[in-house]
Amino acid sequence: MSSKILCSSLLFLTIILGVWSCLVASFRVTFDYENSMRLRHQQWMAHHGKVYADASEEDMRFNVFKNNVERIETFNAGTDKGYKLGVNKFADLTNDEFRELRVSGFVRRDEESGLVSASESKHFRYADATNLPSAVDWREKGAVTPIKDQGDCGSCWAFATVAAVEGIHQLQTGNLVSLSEQQLVDCNRNRKNTGCNGGYPYIAFQFIAQNNGLTTEENYPYKAKDGVCKANKTVLKAAAAISGYEQVPSENETALMQAVAHQPVAVSIDGGDFDFQFYKKGVFAGKCKVELNHAVAAVGYGITGDGKKYWVIKNSWGTTWGENGYMKIQRDYADKRGLCGLAKAASYPTI
Ligand SMILES: *[C@@H]1O[C@H](CO)[C@@H](O)[C@H](O)[C@H]1NC(C)=O
Ligand SMILES: *[C@@H]1O[C@H](CO)[C@@H](O)[C@H](O)[C@H]1NC(C)=O
Repeated sequence: MSSKILCSSLLFLTIILGVWSCLVASFRVTFDYENSMRLRHQQWMAHHGKVYADASEEDMRFNVFKNNVERIETFNAGTDKGYKLGVNKFADLTNDEFRELRVSGFVRRDEESGLVSASESKHFRYADATNLPSAVDWREKGAVTPIKDQGDCGSCWAFATVAAVEGIHQLQTGNLVSLSEQQLVDCNRNRKNTGCNGGYPYIAFQFIAQNNGLTTEENYPYKAKDGVCKANKTVLKAAAAISGYEQVPSENETALMQAVAHQPVAVSIDGGDFDFQFYKKGVFAGKCKVELNHAVAAVGYGITGDGKKYWVIKNSWGTTWGENGYMKIQRDYADKRGLCGLAKAASYPTI
């Protein structure tokens, strides 16, 4: 009888000890996990030169960072969607903040974005182009300057415009010259083009055509903030000129392909969704809205070994986003507006 009691109390003690050590272990795992995530956040902050105002802001940003990292890692560990996400410089922004702060600079309303129906497109010089190559990459042809970074300024429209002008200038002259976004930010100011508050590539093409060209990046370097247009004639000396622009008929990826086969094209896109924010590599096929809020340049197209068709877009978010600053994005999408609306409002400069 007494040995039976001893027995069951030993068992009881064993259970208690077991549960207790389990709790300790799980607490330690959680603790280690939190700690390693903290460390990751600090390393990330150092790497991207992030400084927060105080400890409570850092705590708040840490939690955003942790949620993003977890979501990115869960995505990457899940079934292969053909593309991967990565922890980049936007990792301490919630997707709402990213959409609001980083990409909303471009377009407020779709009808303002220079959308054109096929009938409105007065002239589309590539409409009859046939026998297009199955792949084009203007980077390989030396018509694309290195990736730039718009910073905390809604000037994507200036970067997309400049990339397209740099492209046609190189195709025309053989010289690749890096041109000035800041000149557009400071000088092409009107109701629609508003510097760091957003703008439209087609308006910028008009400005460049009327302004007799654009100067070099070197002459008029990028500052990532609004400034007063410099009047100095030496600074404003044009390095590349265009005669005008044309719009690609809207909602037609075949037409877009005709254009991109001939030159880099400025493309408007919805760059605001989570998968776009953290895109790392592969052919992007993530969820996207189609509220055009960002502008990029289409600098090529192609098809992967396993038959996935894609566009190559040049972004202006530095080289740590995407494939060294570029994105491959699904081409010939089921929706005629294109993935993320990329076929809605594309335009290119003419010479
Ligand atoms: C798309 O554009 C091509 C050529 O530019 C044209 O032949 C075709 O009819 C267009 N498709 C639609 C649906 O408008
Ligand atoms: C104009 O800019 C050039 C190059 O930066 C500089 O050398 C020159 O002194 C400037 N001229 C005036 C009048 O400010």
